[in-house]
Amino acid sequence: MKLIISNHKMNFTLEEIKIYVEQLETVQSKNNLLVFCPSFLYLPYFKGKNYSLGSQNVASQKMGALTGEVSVEQLKSSGVSYVIIGHSERRNLLKEDKDSIQKKISLCLENEITPILCIGEQLEEKNQKEKVLQEEIDSAFQEGQALDEIIIAYEPIWSIGTGIIPSKEDITSTFEWIKSYVKETYHANCKVIYGGSVNEENIRLLNQIQIIDGYLLGGASLEIEKLREIIKVVEG
Ligand code: 13P
Repeated sequence: MKLIISNHKMNFTLEEIKIYVEQLETVQSKNNLLVFCPSFLYLPYFKGKNYSLGSQNVASQKMGALTGEVSVEQLKSSGVSYVIIGHSERRNLLKEDKDSIQKKISLCLENEITPILCIGEQLEEKNQKEKVLQEEIDSAFQEGQALDEIIIAYEPIWSIGTGIIPSKEDITSTFEWIKSYVKETYHANCKVIYGGSVNEENIRLLNQIQIIDGYLLGGASLEIEKLREIIKVVEG
């Protein structure tokens, strides 16, 4: 079973999301786990269906006076079971720091919500990739937590929205490194998924890489036909 997680980012109007959800009724998956992460506003439209619900962010505090934020309890009561944390767009454009990423992960784990921790290097960091990934893992993971529950999404920043993906060999060695690093350092067996320009064409190549536990889709998840094709290929 592979995870196919759709990150809608800041897309769709209310009318468009209603049509999307309607079309989704025709999309089936026999043996994969589909997760949809729409805008907070649209979570209710995705509830009670055949797939799981995720959010694109969560507040770093439990509750209280934090205008504009959404708490882990609010998400849980809305049916959310996955939360994307530390996406590169939030780290770089919205200045999300390591401290708040760590707090968000703790809050999710305490509330039995699966955190999807995004890690990845910039183009100019390619030759020190492992150092970057190690720092991102170390600043998010805390000993004594249910670290096996964390899903790591490896998203090379230079691949997001560019149509360019790393080679098969690159992905394999990076995934091997991530899995063995968390195993040796934290005794954790984390699922690792790939994100960055996954589409209905390159999914054939990506799907040959056994070590990948799933995909974090951006642009391709906005179009039902592309999503359907991706699921079909992953289904085999
Ligand atoms: P794209 O698939 O549009 O490159 O986005 C990937 C991503 O950032 C998913 O979180």
